[in-house]
Amino acid sequence: MGKLDGSVALVIGSAKGQGRSHALTLAREGAEIVLVDNCVVDVEGQPYPGASKEQLDETTAMVQALGRRCVSMVGDVRLAEDMERAAQYALSEFGAIDHLICNAGILLRFGKVHELSPDQWRTVIDTNLTGVFMACRAVLPHMVARRRGTITITASTAGRSGFPNLADYNASKWGVIGLMKSLASEYGSFGIRVNCVAPSNVNSGKRPSMTNNEAIFGLFCPDIAEPTRDQAVERMRLMHPLGVEGVDPEDVSKAILYLVSDDARYISGEVLHVAAGLMASNSA
Ligand SMILES: NC(=O)c1ccc[n+]([C@@H]2O[C@H](COP(=O)([O-])OP(=O)(O)OC[C@H]3O[C@@H](n4cnc5c(N)ncnc54)[C@H](O)[C@@H]3O)[C@@H](O)[C@H]2O)c1
Repeated sequence: MGKLDGSVALVIGSAKGQGRSHALTLAREGAEIVLVDNCVVDVEGQPYPGASKEQLDETTAMVQALGRRCVSMVGDVRLAEDMERAAQYALSEFGAIDHLICNAGILLRFGKVHELSPDQWRTVIDTNLTGVFMACRAVLPHMVARRRGTITITASTAGRSGFPNLADYNASKWGVIGLMKSLASEYGSFGIRVNCVAPSNVNSGKRPSMTNNEAIFGLFCPDIAEPTRDQAVERMRLMHPLGVEGVDPEDVSKAILYLVSDDARYISGEVLHVAAGLMASNSA
């Protein structure tokens, strides 16, 4: 028997990376899955590839191979109509949405505030913060009517401290924590629990990703002209008390599984850090 038998999870930003891992983890525990991703490979200003439709189809097949029902939809988290369509699609396919996982997020060019373009600022806030609002807004009427549901939002350790050269991302991740707190306060009486996970660097092996690209190596090694991956990884290790460069996607998935399961039935309004000790020295 799985912890999520008979439930339905809508996972936004799930073609690849952590979203794929979350879908597989929840499916292994019995959830039926609805995947949503915008499937844009070349994102303006993003120093690593976005997801493709093929990757979304691959994730769908991987969930189905676990014996679970899984459907997918191409949709943009920034658009109210796409999120409404996603909620309706999930309801028409499965009749319910028990868990909403808001995972879609982007990290674009690094720079001090005066170096960030207004367009980049808007895109990051639109995707990472307003996108969460759009997804919650689309799903909440259904959860309220059923008087049950969980919402789990992927924040970041960049939503717990200030880091130089990524104010747009920083602000978006602090923002989702504030949004989560409001949601948990407003909808607790409807039996809806809302929490965040806050990962530190997430490993992707050799695959180019948010933490594996030349731009981020430069962010970690501003004193080195052309830093290598090894040099950046060394800095990443030093940053974490547990001495690792980052956590694996599955570590974040397990935290999400805990938060959406009945094991966490009285946990709402919280941020669960998956950060290899990085938060140990934080007072917030
Ligand atoms: N990678 C890290 O080190 C790290 C650390 C902390 C937090 N996070 C957060 O974790 C989440 C997942 O990141 P990841 O590392 O798996 O990155 P990723 O790029 O592998 O996954 C993000 C997914 O979101 C999708 N997406 C992006 N914009 C979208 C949009 N407008 N509409 C719908 N889908 C969209 C992408 O196509 C992709 O599939 C993000 O919210 C990110 O900010 C990542």
